[in-house]
Amino acid sequence: MELNKIYNQDCIEGMRQYPDKFFQLAIVDPPYFQGPNLSGYYGKGYSNLGVKRAKYYKGCKEWNVPGPEYFQELRRVSKNQIIWGANHFAGVFDSSSPCWIIWDKDNGKSSFADAEIAYTSFRSAVRIFKYMWNGMHQGSFGGDVSKNEKRIHPTQKPVALYKWLLAHYANAGDKILDTHAGSCSSAIACIDMGFDYIAYELDHDYWKAGTERVRQFEAQLKLF
Ligand SMILES: C[S@@+](CC[C@H](N)C(=O)[O-])C[C@H]1O[C@@H](n2cnc3c(N)ncnc32)[C@H](O)[C@@H]1O
Repeated sequence: MELNKIYNQDCIEGMRQYPDKFFQLAIVDPPYFQGPNLSGYYGKGYSNLGVKRAKYYKGCKEWNVPGPEYFQELRRVSKNQIIWGANHFAGVFDSSSPCWIIWDKDNGKSSFADAEIAYTSFRSAVRIFKYMWNGMHQGSFGGDVSKNEKRIHPTQKPVALYKWLLAHYANAGDKILDTHAGSCSSAIACIDMGFDYIAYELDHDYWKAGTERVRQFEAQLKLF
């Protein structure tokens, strides 16, 4: 099976082609709410940073919260899972798992959430990754915005977060699955750290922007 591909496809359909436990680790970030306004766009089509917002329109598949079938298939194809948005999926997970992950966004007085929480299937302690993610303020660059990651997705997570997850929860040679790739930060982290991966993104615009971001990253790697 071909690896290191990002498919513009529904992830449940995509996962069906893999045998049990094909991936050693799935790091996933599914939509966790349908949006308060299902009859039209929520807010402006584009943010001030030029990021295309979610399309919260009626029947929009891209922002459907995944049901039991998704989690069943995810567990079938992957040995271990890290699942973001865990606080929104109460009841779905094995509550005896002690190893949850907190991403502390270090975002001061921002009205956005202070942190994001991931369920994991691992049996180790709760861990916190602190990394600033607040508009123009990113990471520990001391205000040097030229080092910022370009934002192309409304719920983009930093590449640094995925690299930290891979460093702590993956082993050399692992195959990584991301079912909801969005900006493709996970794929960039995998490439940077030498992991094989497969990713899915249903929305064609996000898929196009995400794969272009990956292409640019790979071109840069070749250059240096
Ligand atoms: C919360 S965002 C993921 C953001 C990503 N972690 C990042 O760092 O950019 C969820 C993404 O899943 C996509 N999506 C929703 N349903 C999907 C499905 N069934 N299969 C694949 N992608 C899906 C949405 O279009 C959206 O881009």
